[in-house]
Amino acid sequence: MPITIADFDYIRKLVYDRTGVSLSEEKMYLVESRLGMVAKAAGANSVSGLVAELKQIKQQRFNPLYESTVEAMMTNETFFFRDVNPFEMLKTSIVPELLRQRQGCTFNIWCAACSSGQEPYSIAMLLREYFPQMRNQVQIIASDISTAMLKLANSGCYAQHEVVRGLPTALLHKYFDRGSKEWQIKEEIRRAIEFRQINLTEPFGLMPQMDIIFMRNVLIYFDVQTKQSILARVRRVLRPDGYLFLGGGETTVNLDPAFKLVQFEKGICYQLI
Ligand SMILES: C[S@@+](CC[C@H](N)C(=O)[O-])C[C@H]1O[C@@H](n2cnc3c(N)ncnc32)[C@H](O)[C@@H]1O
Repeated sequence: MPITIADFDYIRKLVYDRTGVSLSEEKMYLVESRLGMVAKAAGANSVSGLVAELKQIKQQRFNPLYESTVEAMMTNETFFFRDVNPFEMLKTSIVPELLRQRQGCTFNIWCAACSSGQEPYSIAMLLREYFPQMRNQVQIIASDISTAMLKLANSGCYAQHEVVRGLPTALLHKYFDRGSKEWQIKEEIRRAIEFRQINLTEPFGLMPQMDIIFMRNVLIYFDVQTKQSILARVRRVLRPDGYLFLGGGETTVNLDPAFKLVQFEKGICYQLI
């Protein structure tokens, strides 16, 4: 049965209240297809039935049905070394520069909205491959709102179709162990990352000052006001000489004048003015 406008509006508000993600009218078909599975798992015979059950929940936060409904509406698309250029910029310009400027210091990297972990693992492999001397000098925090994505990320296990997306074969064989069904990232890389659950629309919690922040392909899902409040909080955790990476379709321009665009040979990122 097709979803009604009233049910769509209910789901839209629920997702917005929990995550800040704005679902446009065109996403109505997505609600229908994705929530069909959640409804079935909950024993409801339709999305309308699921909505009726959700309305009965008094304490929404931490309720499994509520959480799985919200998580089903997230877009978790990611892959290793996505867009290539940000990683090239780290390798050829930013990390060498940070190492030159601050010899012997510890560096902090935050990969926000990391989905199933391919992005922070790409950063960790790049550092291990090209800057092995930094082994004990870097702390990588990776976060997402989704409990399910963080579980996947933390396991470091990926199916064949995931490891052929963006990951050079040499790195696959060097940094992963092959299991019967999946590939698992080696413990030495997994240990380099601390996974945390962070909702970007809420206070980030206690964070060290970050040298590098990857917050890619997540701001696009928020409205202007939400983007501005997230960037205002990012400002506070980014070091004055730190670097912010956004996704290809995202920018701070016309949102937050505290950031300036920095151009490298391989692409752009942002720094505080
Ligand atoms: C498209 S993925 C981006 C993954 C990765 N950064 C990349 O570029 O490949 C978007 C991620 O943002 C997460 N997300 C959505 N709303 C969020 C919020 N309010 N706080 C934190 N993460 C959020 C989703 O769970 C999803 O894993």
